[in-house]
Amino acid sequence: MRVLSGLQPSGDLHIGNYFGAIKQMLDRQENSDLFIFIANYHAMTSSKDANKLKMDTLKVAAAFLSLGIDPEKCTFWLQSDVKEVLELYWILSQFTPMGLLERAHSYKDKIAKGINASHGLFSYPVLMAADILLYDSNLVPVGKDQIQHIEITRDIAIKINNEFGEIFTIPEPQIDDKIAVICGTDGAKMSKSYKNTIDIFADDKTRKKQISSIITDSTPLESPKQWQTCNVFNIAKLFLNENEISSLKTRYENGGEGYGHFKQYLNELVSEYFLKANEKYNAYLKEPNKLREILEFGALKAKKIASQKMAKIYDKIGL
Ligand code: ADP
Ligand code: TRP
Repeated sequence: MRVLSGLQPSGDLHIGNYFGAIKQMLDRQENSDLFIFIANYHAMTSSKDANKLKMDTLKVAAAFLSLGIDPEKCTFWLQSDVKEVLELYWILSQFTPMGLLERAHSYKDKIAKGINASHGLFSYPVLMAADILLYDSNLVPVGKDQIQHIEITRDIAIKINNEFGEIFTIPEPQIDDKIAVICGTDGAKMSKSYKNTIDIFADDKTRKKQISSIITDSTPLESPKQWQTCNVFNIAKLFLNENEISSLKTRYENGGEGYGHFKQYLNELVSEYFLKANEKYNAYLKEPNKLREILEFGALKAKKIASQKMAKIYDKIGL
């Protein structure tokens, strides 16, 4: 079973990225043929700052490795190191109806947020389809917002298979329903564009500030509190097992503790959970050449499969 996913290097990673995307990838490392890449071509659609893109790329590489991606156990590479994906993107474009892309929510959302409409942004899902189809991926773990992109990928693949015979494996999305959307400090979807994140690799001061900005109601300290609607509780439970969740519920229901106490507890949970990863992350960032070497090692493995696939595609479609 080949499992493939990618992450854009577009800023500091937050716990929504971790529980919504990265953790699902890590959970697959031991029992599947895992392919993970850093989607730097995709990141170009939202940022044209060269130095930032380079730095963000190294940061995502360091993040994946420090959180547990093992380049010996999986194939881990930088998207732009395997150029075949752009060739396939062009080929797929010929079989992508305009209407399919015009219906893409993520394109409409990005335009609404003020990102300039460009051909690159519009055809983003076709490049994503190329990422997935080039490697015959069976399963694609992604957050809920990416499901439509997998559907577009399937539509394109089915269309080409119908026309030329079996070329592409039809992929399935993999979504963990329990943690489909992680809420941010204001209760809306956690996203760096809403500035409501709790970052994985924030320093102590920044993390404390992010957690203390979580919006809560004004129930007095001594009164019982509603864990059901509390943003602090909703985030804390991601880090807890069933028993720990029950005892946190009891603390809310008993009263006698204010939201400040619960925020402090959350701060301890987050910092403890990512403590080891944080140390490794900072060490990796001091060795950018080592990071590049690891990515090149992965690109060699990916390229071997990509070029074999392209040879088959050439033959089938008449290039
Ligand atoms: P952001 O919204 O901060 O810009 P991205 O769009 O770069 O994050 O998302 C990267 C990955 O993380 C995607 O797979 C996305 O589905 C997942 N993701 C981002 N935010 C969340 C969230 N709040 N809850 C669950 N998954 C998320
Ligand atoms: N669009 C994805 C995101 O924003 C990143 C991505 C690019 C991706 N290509 C992919 C994810 C292929 C899964 C498979 O998160």
